[in-house]
Amino acid sequence: MSLPSVPQPTFYIFKCEQASPPGMPKPSCVNENTRDLFNHTAQSLMQKGLMGPVQAIRTSCLGRCQMGPVMLIEPGHHMYCQLSKEKIDKIIEEHILGGNPVVEYLMPEQYWGEPAKL
Ligand code: FES
Repeated sequence: MSLPSVPQPTFYIFKCEQASPPGMPKPSCVNENTRDLFNHTAQSLMQKGLMGPVQAIRTSCLGRCQMGPVMLIEPGHHMYCQLSKEKIDKIIEEHILGGNPVVEYLMPEQYWGEPAKL
């Protein structure tokens, strides 16, 4: 039996969906002001016909909570921070569709340096 071939996604978007419990001193990416960013991302991808070539995935903490809300786009280790719906729309247009990362929304280098050595 031969199975149909399934192409790989071109991009993965890992959106941090961690919400801290009330009273937790550490900030988290999801709060009452940011809880719909994942749905906004998924709807934008759907409206542009990008579901499939782009796979949006809800993740837990990506370790950069102070700079949240964050999302990581692979390939390329592009970590975007302090997201809003407007920033996500621009990232989809310019990075996903245009192939050019939106440099001004990327995590500053002091928080997102070179990959750690094994
Ligand atoms: S809670 Fe999102 S990076 Fe930690």
